[in-house]
Amino acid sequence: MHKDIKKILISEEQIRSRCDELGKQITEDYGKEGRTPLLVALLRGSVPFLAELIKHIDLDIQYDFMDVTSYAGTKSTGDIKILKDLDTSIEGVDILLVEDIVDTGKTIKSVKELLMNKGARSVKVVTLLDKPSRRTEDVNPEYCGFEVEDLFVVGYGMDFDQKYRCLPYIGVLKDELYQ
Ligand code: IMP
Ligand code: MG
Repeated sequence: MHKDIKKILISEEQIRSRCDELGKQITEDYGKEGRTPLLVALLRGSVPFLAELIKHIDLDIQYDFMDVTSYAGTKSTGDIKILKDLDTSIEGVDILLVEDIVDTGKTIKSVKELLMNKGARSVKVVTLLDKPSRRTEDVNPEYCGFEVEDLFVVGYGMDFDQKYRCLPYIGVLKDELYQ
């Protein structure tokens, strides 16, 4: 375990196994409608989750990336800036937005609106983690890996000031690191 981590909340094996379940569910839901979603992953936190999830979706999917957030330190600001836009046309496309964690819901709410305004046929959200107790917006992910309590977590793509993204598990930092 990394020296700065106090506790592992979710192990690599638990994540892999949950991605298998999510992938099967997504395959079934889109498959029965004869649809193939474009996965839009939000940089940078969702990359490890995207990489695991796509192994378990049995549809001819494609993926693209957007970078939108302006999240500094441990507080969500809510002002969304597009740093990198999609390279794919989304007119009439079913989009599955891939997030690392939904907190207040401001990010997914803004991005969903933006993609619908650009002509997407549908926009659903798959998130690795959800912190429902922190929600301020009326928006919920259609697919969620794990619900977590109101704790700041790192690893598996999630950072604290850009650090700890590459840990293969999700954990909580030692208290002194948040000072
Ligand atoms: P929201 O817009 O408040 O829902 O914030 C979502 C974004 O905040 C996520 O994509 C993460 O980048 C970041 N975030 C929220 N909670 C955490 C956390 O516990 N650890 C790391 N990043 C977080
Ligand atoms: Mg993020």
